[in-house]
Amino acid sequence: MKIKNIAILTSGGDAPGMNTAIYGVFSACQNKGINLYGIRNGYDGLIDDDITLLTYDILEGRINQGGTLLKSKRSKRFFQSKYIKIAVENLKKHLIDALIIVGGDGSLKGAMELRDRGIKVSCLPGTIDNDLNFFRTIGYDSALNSIVSAVDQIQDSLSAFNNGAVVKIMGRVCTDLIDGVAKAIHTDFVIKDPNYSLTQLIKKIKAQNDGAHLPPVVLVLEDTVDSVELAKILQNKCNIQVRPHIIGYIQRGGSPSAFDRMYAYDAGKYAVDLIADGKAGLVVGIDDLQHLVTKAIENSINYDKIS
Ligand code: F6P
Repeated sequence: MKIKNIAILTSGGDAPGMNTAIYGVFSACQNKGINLYGIRNGYDGLIDDDITLLTYDILEGRINQGGTLLKSKRSKRFFQSKYIKIAVENLKKHLIDALIIVGGDGSLKGAMELRDRGIKVSCLPGTIDNDLNFFRTIGYDSALNSIVSAVDQIQDSLSAFNNGAVVKIMGRVCTDLIDGVAKAIHTDFVIKDPNYSLTQLIKKIKAQNDGAHLPPVVLVLEDTVDSVELAKILQNKCNIQVRPHIIGYIQRGGSPSAFDRMYAYDAGKYAVDLIADGKAGLVVGIDDLQHLVTKAIENSINYDKIS
């Protein structure tokens, strides 16, 4: 069957490279004479029929920016079959032959709902968390670099006074971001489990705060311990100034790294090539050798929300 119309949406936490992925999909569609429709606000836009034909004018200037030009949502309605049914009807109304979803684990869950209702759907793994079964997800490399440069700046200032800091790191339950940052900034102070040993941490900080080591930066995985409280305790016990640093969306925003741009663009183009060849129901990512690979859509971690 000749593919005439493809639609694309971005869902869950935005990730640097989502816009480049849209551009990759757009370019491949242009080359093949396929119309590309953009669905705004993730799965909610599919329910609300917020679907527009994408043109280069809409993409121009956004291709290498962070965030997502199609906007994103964590849809609550898409859990209910009555809304999934509306979404399917809207796709049919616009004569959409196939849908491409860029998002994380919860977004893949939504994709499975559509696939199981007979929609041709393929996905691109867009999340900073790196929690899907590929070597990298689109956005991880950019987020890692953004966090490392933020912490480097914090460390410059800390070193002037031998002060310490606690920095909260995103990643949900996946430790790839925090582990990557810890390696890159050379810190052993990493809390990934609420049952960590405070006594050991204090001992290690005291031993290393001797002017011969980098200033103590304690990395805390989000949702494990309260970083503001921890900073207060460490300040009292270690006799140095320790401030909490909540760098928030500095981690997730910002333009995609060169790596993520190449990855997102190539994966987007490949997803379209596959669909045009009659191959859907796949997630396009990269393996350890950084070659494009596909896997059947499944969700690796069982989140109970669309993310
Ligand atoms: O999934 C991406 C992510 O940034 C996670 O690392 C984090 O847990 C979550 O989204 C935070 O999302 P929000 O601030 O949008 O609720």
